[in-house]
Amino acid sequence: MSAVTLEVEAKDPVADGVVALTLVHPDGARLPDWTPGSHIDLVLPDQTVRQYSLCGDRWDAYRYRVAVLREPAGRGGSAYVHDRLRPGDRVGVGGPRNHFPMVPAQRYLFIAGGIGITPLLPMVRQAELVGLGWQLLYGGRSRDSMAFLEELAAYRGRVQVEPQDEKGLLDLVSHLGRPRPDTKVYCCGPAPLLRAVQDACADWPEYALRTERFAAELGPPAREEPFEVELRRTGRTVTVPPGTSVLEAVRDAGADVLTSCEQGTCGTCLTTVLDGRPDHRDAVLADHERAANDCMFPCVSRSLDDRLVLDL
Ligand code: FES
Repeated sequence: MSAVTLEVEAKDPVADGVVALTLVHPDGARLPDWTPGSHIDLVLPDQTVRQYSLCGDRWDAYRYRVAVLREPAGRGGSAYVHDRLRPGDRVGVGGPRNHFPMVPAQRYLFIAGGIGITPLLPMVRQAELVGLGWQLLYGGRSRDSMAFLEELAAYRGRVQVEPQDEKGLLDLVSHLGRPRPDTKVYCCGPAPLLRAVQDACADWPEYALRTERFAAELGPPAREEPFEVELRRTGRTVTVPPGTSVLEAVRDAGADVLTSCEQGTCGTCLTTVLDGRPDHRDAVLADHERAANDCMFPCVSRSLDDRLVLDL
């Protein structure tokens, strides 16, 4: 993965268990532009790679900000950031990439659960900047665990803060109201919240709901049998047995696939599908993108059919 080296300018606690990192170019150079919903890959000094949503000011071309939740059950990336990373340290940064773009609408309903506030914060600012209608429903375990409440206080009247220990589960039905064709619903948070919002949006127009997941939900694959993958450009066909990922199989066959997370969350390994139907298992594609069957993430996704043809 190609990455630039940035320096940690500041590391600030923004809630219980959440620190914000401000990253700058060591030479003071400007950083690549980004749009609301973008994330970067953080390549930590111990070579772990993690994805974090950009949650700073997109009009500040010299700084990136990300917020990192300490995840006790995680793979060590968040613990490294919390316990070892210091201002002045250098980190590799890949991206930015945006798999959660803010599509045009007259009005937005944002729903955040916990650290899921991070990609939505720049969307809130964008909607405010261009004078569109928006409301944010923000839930979390407790008020102390919810990041950026002070920044959001500037939008009084548009932001509903609902800590679970004070108000219970989010009242999605009253926040969403009746389906409206001029409104997009953006949700980021833990899997149970995403499922609840999906259920609550069942009567909304197609594509009204956009979600971003923290992790792919890797249930059992759709088929247990081996399948074939044809690498059209390489001119080879490989068999992918159960227990071997498509990524491993195509790499063994000599295909070069760029990867980062290898968990179906970052979008780096996006591969064009020329024929066959993938068994999508990633956390990146929206339902309508899955249905198009024209791309897949071979680090986690597999095949529904006996044969897949990839543009590799
Ligand atoms: Fe991140 Fe495949 S490497 S989605």
